[in-house]
Amino acid sequence: MSHTLDNLLETRRSTRAFTSDPVPRDAIERMCRAARRAPSGANLQPGQFHVLTGSVLRGLVRALKYAQEQNTPHVAEYSYFPSPMPAELKARQRAAGYALYTALGVGRRDVDGRRAQFARNYAFFDAPVGVVVTIRRDMGKGCFMDLGMSLMSFLLSAEDQGFGATGIGALANYGPVVQNHLCLPDDEMVVCGIALGVADDTAPENQFRTERAGLNEFTSFRGFD
Ligand SMILES: Cc1cc2nc3c(=O)[nH]c(=O)nc-3n(C[C@H](O)[C@H](O)[C@H](O)COP(=O)(O)O)c2cc1C
Repeated sequence: MSHTLDNLLETRRSTRAFTSDPVPRDAIERMCRAARRAPSGANLQPGQFHVLTGSVLRGLVRALKYAQEQNTPHVAEYSYFPSPMPAELKARQRAAGYALYTALGVGRRDVDGRRAQFARNYAFFDAPVGVVVTIRRDMGKGCFMDLGMSLMSFLLSAEDQGFGATGIGALANYGPVVQNHLCLPDDEMVVCGIALGVADDTAPENQFRTERAGLNEFTSFRGFD
């Protein structure tokens, strides 16, 4: 493919609805290799990518559905968001949620509609491929930063090869369920999932773009004058 990096960075977005087209294994291996090319402190290369499809993915989705039906408590094995969330960040979170729910026609007070969309996380948005991303439990915050870069490389490689993907941080809420179901080693913890497939360009949840802060909101340039 001949995307420029700028073009990829500008056009990529989270994909939350997929066609039933499969993703060839060699394409996924390329994404995984791109992920591993990410730089990392002391070149530790933290993180594991467990790639699931077919009956194995369906089995995990069933286990997650069962966990939801049983009201299995969410377990926070690592903290993702600040608690309490500062107002200006809450506003960003709300805007992203609002964009998604508006695209889906789910109203602000439609609790059931929101819950149903949230549950889609645990079905990997019906993607043909689900990835469970884990990290060793003893890794520090810096290693999470490194893993984030791997995730971005994975997502960009997916886009570059014509596929769509989204991160699923919500998967970590059921980390122990995923861990048990997949018999993952005890010293790994679930960081997030990735749903991967061919984007369904007709689906409403794929029709919106999220916004970003302007340059002067997050940068300072000094000594350039
Ligand atoms: C690590 C990670 C975890 C995420 N977890 C979820 C999730 O659980 N559910 C969801 O719908 N989107 C999730 N997202 C997607 C974000 O909401 C999305 O990246 C953000 O709103 C910016 O939109 P964009 O990806 O379309 O540019 C996640 C993204 C990342 C990188």
